[in-house]
Amino acid sequence: GTAGAWTAVFAGLSGVFVLNPLRGGRAAQTINLGSVWSYGEGFQLVKHELTLQDGWQKKTELLKLFVPVDAEGNPEVFSATCTHLGCSVNWDEEDGEFLCPCHRGRYAADGTVLGGPPPASLPRMSERVENEELLIELS
Ligand code: FES
Repeated sequence: GTAGAWTAVFAGLSGVFVLNPLRGGRAAQTINLGSVWSYGEGFQLVKHELTLQDGWQKKTELLKLFVPVDAEGNPEVFSATCTHLGCSVNWDEEDGEFLCPCHRGRYAADGTVLGGPPPASLPRMSERVENEELLIELS
């Protein structure tokens, strides 16, 4: 009786600590970027404001992405944030590559590093299309 009650109380408290959002990590979030047909085949910069739950606080974050979509409606979604120190990269149509204005980092159209200080490729988002809506997963 009493032991069972204490076990239940302890289990409940454990749940509080395990689920307490102050203990870090942000939950995976699905973001709807609208109709997949609203994007072109080129590398247009897309800005999307996110509201995130960080612990007990809500905060906003601006996502900057490139969203080329081919003629069949297959998207690719790259972060526009340079992997060196976080500047926003731009698409250079003439040279067919992404350029970072801060320290001249260069990336190919598939996001891989071509030159300069960036230590890694532009991050690619996990994307899918449902009912012609473009969804990405943020973790
Ligand atoms: Fe992009 Fe340094 S921040 S190259």
